[in-house]
Amino acid sequence: MSDWNDPNYVRIFDTTLRDGEQSPGATMTSDEKLEVARALGKLGVDIIEAGFPAASPDDLAAVKQIALTVGKQKRGEKPPPVICGLARAVEGDLDKCWEAIQGAERPRIHTFLATSPIHREHKLKLSKAEVLTQIEAMVKYAVSLCADVEFSAEDAGRTELDFLCEAFQVAVDAGATTLNVPDTVGYLMPHEIGSRIATIKERVVGDRDDLVISVHNHDDLGLAVANSLAGVMAGARQVEVAINGIGERAGNASLEEIVMTLHTRKPALKLDHGIDTKQLTRSSKLVSRVTGIQVQANKAIVGANAFAHEAGIHQHGMLSHQSTYEIMEPETVGAPKSALVLGKHSGKHAFAARLEELGYQLEPDAMKKAFKRFKEVAEKKKQMTDADLLALAQDELHRPVERFQLVALQVSCGTGDLQTATVRLKTADGDEPTCAAIGNGPIEAVFEAIEMAAGVQLDLLEYNVRSVTGGEDALGEASVNVRGPKGTPQAEKVFHGAGADVDVLVASAKAYLAALNRVLAAREAERAAA
Ligand code: KIV
Ligand code: ZN
Repeated sequence: MSDWNDPNYVRIFDTTLRDGEQSPGATMTSDEKLEVARALGKLGVDIIEAGFPAASPDDLAAVKQIALTVGKQKRGEKPPPVICGLARAVEGDLDKCWEAIQGAERPRIHTFLATSPIHREHKLKLSKAEVLTQIEAMVKYAVSLCADVEFSAEDAGRTELDFLCEAFQVAVDAGATTLNVPDTVGYLMPHEIGSRIATIKERVVGDRDDLVISVHNHDDLGLAVANSLAGVMAGARQVEVAINGIGERAGNASLEEIVMTLHTRKPALKLDHGIDTKQLTRSSKLVSRVTGIQVQANKAIVGANAFAHEAGIHQHGMLSHQSTYEIMEPETVGAPKSALVLGKHSGKHAFAARLEELGYQLEPDAMKKAFKRFKEVAEKKKQMTDADLLALAQDELHRPVERFQLVALQVSCGTGDLQTATVRLKTADGDEPTCAAIGNGPIEAVFEAIEMAAGVQLDLLEYNVRSVTGGEDALGEASVNVRGPKGTPQAEKVFHGAGADVDVLVASAKAYLAALNRVLAAREAERAAA
């Protein structure tokens, strides 16, 4: 295993919990963030950007919890991951960031200030000299709190190259050791990133082996991965990535694509990384589930079709030799080999053992619930596949705190406009509000009845339903994105919810209720913080 100070080692900096969470609708609860952080630790990432502590008391608490748990956990030979918090280059943010991360064994402050002319003029309203003064003062302040400081020149991609080097030099003189070059708006092309990194390396880093250049690319032109690799080939030794490529707007460079390129093309690139590639599929599924952002089927590495061969000629080639049409084996990224695993006669031990093989160790309570649901579904389904099991396990793991639970649902539908749904919910106090509603379709009727029973009106933005596996008895997975009640702070945010069941109407009701529970949890957190 290479040391991360080795000149050929590329540090993987994961920002799923910070930039990734900035994807519309991707808000995660603290428990979900901790679960993702644990998975990132197991995956072997070098640095976890756990959040933006100054953004809200909830964010601060979530980062602190990650610092005190995952940030102290060794991974075999490997030390715990660095736990990093983001902070604007102002004292208040830096103080909150330090408060959140200081419990980690290896804390890092990541501070940023925009340097491009467009940001200087229209956002910061600062001259070049004032920007440099702020960088110097705030990096010095950050270093007085924490030994490991990363400085990002926001919108570096559109910053004059000479000024960018000047800004980085000031940051280095003030004590920063990681220099991040974000292409914040995803504007540059690979050769431009490459030459920028080469210039920064030559003019700022020189022969200092304690300084690391980092790349952080956004995917607005679909170039984030290519741009990051161009940066690495020009000398960057840290790549900022997110699982499934999620992040602000079109997202960040995808962790799995960067890692599998380093891995598969090692003979050409001659670079090392510390990722356990077998954890990639599992991590991708987890992030997709907790954020509600589905992975497209043809997504490289972790999409459902990434290792599927359809054309006869390809299948024939694969039967002769796997490498005819495959440059990676599915097992290398942890894609499950077997389709069929368990059925209705299987016992708890077989169920738990298979979940463990798939990377899940549920707490006894969650295991009990997941097994109960497994039995219910297995009664109705002929075959239970790994995908079904994962959907059930994740459903139990990531249920938001349930203010309302679904007790019963009855839907009557057909032709005409009398689609009716009756819903019975259960509150934490044991009340069972029951309401019926008519809608333009069964789904509208179900959602309307839930809103009436809960006494909360949401704004539905997106609704999706898909079958987890094929066949008539497939398990359906529904997901929704909603905004909270109009005129409340929750109307400004997007909340997601997901639910799985053999009946898509029940799956949809569960998804809507999960989103509603998230809205209520956010309302309570806001009231508690006020
Ligand atoms: O895209 C960006 O510029 C960022 C910085 C805060 C690193 O996310
Ligand atoms: Zn970003």
